[in-house]
Amino acid sequence: MRIVVAGGDGFCGWPTALHLSNQGHEVSIVDNLSRRKWDDELHSNSVTPIASLEDRVEKWKELTGKEIKTFIGDLNHYDFLREVFRQTEPEAFVHFAEQRSAPYSMIDRDHAVFTQQNNVIGNLNVLYAIKELAPECHLIKLGTMGEYGAPNIDIEEGYIEIEHNGRKDVLPYPKQPGSFYHLSKVHDSHNIMFACKIWGIRATDLNQGIVYGLHTNETKMDPMLVNRVDYDGVFGTALNRFLIQAATGHDLTVYGSGKQTRSFLNIEDTVRCVQIAAENPADKGEFRVFNQFTEYFSVKELADKVQKIAKEKGLKTEIAYLENPRIEPEDHYYHAVNTRLRELGLEPHLLTDEVLHDILQTVIEHKDRVIKENVLPSITWK
Ligand SMILES: NC(=O)c1ccc[n+]([C@@H]2O[C@H](COP(=O)([O-])OP(=O)(O)OC[C@H]3O[C@@H](n4cnc5c(N)ncnc54)[C@H](O)[C@@H]3O)[C@@H](O)[C@H]2O)c1
Repeated sequence: MRIVVAGGDGFCGWPTALHLSNQGHEVSIVDNLSRRKWDDELHSNSVTPIASLEDRVEKWKELTGKEIKTFIGDLNHYDFLREVFRQTEPEAFVHFAEQRSAPYSMIDRDHAVFTQQNNVIGNLNVLYAIKELAPECHLIKLGTMGEYGAPNIDIEEGYIEIEHNGRKDVLPYPKQPGSFYHLSKVHDSHNIMFACKIWGIRATDLNQGIVYGLHTNETKMDPMLVNRVDYDGVFGTALNRFLIQAATGHDLTVYGSGKQTRSFLNIEDTVRCVQIAAENPADKGEFRVFNQFTEYFSVKELADKVQKIAKEKGLKTEIAYLENPRIEPEDHYYHAVNTRLRELGLEPHLLTDEVLHDILQTVIEHKDRVIKENVLPSITWK
């Protein structure tokens, strides 16, 4: 299948591009390399030293004989995007290419506006390009479980049946996102749903949980293929951040009580979920929603797990409770459904001690790269 991976230089996109290529798909990457520029802006870095995109794909070709074409440019530039569609004629378009940090979107007005412009307009351009140039192309869009917030009822996969004044309907599940970034994802979902309805586009919204881990079968093949790992207070996701704190002798910084519960998955499952979605496309006009996670934990539970593993490795690690920089409910009900990807064959990699040991070991090998002053949260929601 001809597949475009937009955002293919990023944490989820790079291993996904390699995995799809390894499965025999004809993969092209689109990326404007902005994630590397945001590191420069924040004086931050990936714990693992990542090669340039050019060197990465060259090494992949050398190792496997498989070519991944690259297109460096911005989804917000429609002429560029049209050219990508003309040259690649995609049957599936996997869309990871957004600004994905909640704290980054909350820095100030400029960053909130940038996030929504980058994400919402970029996605709208993709919808128009599909309509104009590849109407059969299946859009596989990365959403987030954070779109739903933490309602006091079970979270369904995209839709809920509601009875009101004696009448029933199946309606989009209510969204209560917690940042201007998460709101951009909700706006995307609405735009995609509308485009499916009016133009007959086929789309899958993958409401992904928080991704942890770094290696996949493909990125392990050579150090030049290694994935990025973020740890700073802006882009670091909870579990990866705790592991890096443990490796560098930093307290594990839990925000507030740590009772906030979130859904998680291993990067190895992200790449499989996208493959499953691509190989089982949505019907024409269908706006399909899958909740893409395998387990959920409270933030405190994650910190406890990391502390236990660190101790086994001889690292002394304390848990520190910080004033929560975010405005969010801490003590809340959380139960979310995730059956649709499982029904299509996903076999989850669960968060075992062995998995944690493995990630911690790699992080320890690169711990000298950590810029310690970037670890604590510096952005608040107030
Ligand atoms: N990492 C997670 O835990 C997680 C969880 C849920 C959802 N997601 C979603 O998955 C997607 C990928 O996340 P990630 O962690 O890989 O992020 P990332 O920042 O590592 O990668 C995103 C990539 O997209 C590129 N990009 C951004 N805006 C672009 C634009 N306008 N044009 C072209 N390229 C652009 C960046 O340069 C970067 O390489 C995002 O949409 C994110 O919202 C991620």
